[in-house]
Amino acid sequence: MRKNIVAGNWKMNLTLQEGIALAKDVNSRVSAISPKCEIVLGTPFTHITEVVKTVDAPKISVAAQNCANKVSGAYTGEVSAAMVKSTGAQYVILGHSERRAYYGETSETLKEKTDLALANGLLPIFCIGEVLEEREAGKHFDVVKQQIKEALFHLSAEAFGKIVLAYEPVWAIGTGKTASAAQAQEMHAVIRGLLKEQYGAEVADNCTILYGGSCNAGNAKELFSNPDVDGGLIGGASLKAEDFLAIISAF
Ligand code: PGA
Repeated sequence: MRKNIVAGNWKMNLTLQEGIALAKDVNSRVSAISPKCEIVLGTPFTHITEVVKTVDAPKISVAAQNCANKVSGAYTGEVSAAMVKSTGAQYVILGHSERRAYYGETSETLKEKTDLALANGLLPIFCIGEVLEEREAGKHFDVVKQQIKEALFHLSAEAFGKIVLAYEPVWAIGTGKTASAAQAQEMHAVIRGLLKEQYGAEVADNCTILYGGSCNAGNAKELFSNPDVDGGLIGGASLKAEDFLAIISAF
């Protein structure tokens, strides 16, 4: 069954102590309600183990924001999928546009990362999205389809069933400019259509597709009310428990 998920992406914010305090706060507030969605905290690598220990509310889990495209060995500064798994994290965010733009991640490396994440029992939250010029040139559907095909369509239907997609128009990330609910729904429906062509109706129907990009307490309800929008990947608004909880409560 398709899951609804609200996932926070803390990016490179918060010290370990601040991260633990935020996780504690989110955990206790979530414990006080019955959330209608899964909740994921995407923390820096350095915080994962402690955050895993901190959260015990039902439906909360922890994600890394990246993992290496190599199994192990002489790759200074890298963190492998097996290492991430060994912390107790369940998810890993892959292919975020900031990783693609600033660290040169390509579909080829993302394919390798996805395979390693899955081989190690992690659930990828795989990000796709177009830049503004691509949307303005009317190429957004093609760009997003291409990103999915190149990095993910080598997977079997069974393996693809473990992927969560996050559509994040790059022009909406951290800009305060959200895609309209209609723009989000339109893209999510196109993505689901592509999945149906490749994997059939059941896999397409069961795939969780999140929206990300300036999603906040004010617009989450409208975005999540669309039939093909199954939750959000939240950056800025995931850094304050109150804002994040308001988004969770939008379901
Ligand atoms: P934002 O970031 O909510 O701050 O726009 C979303 C993301 O990059 O995942």
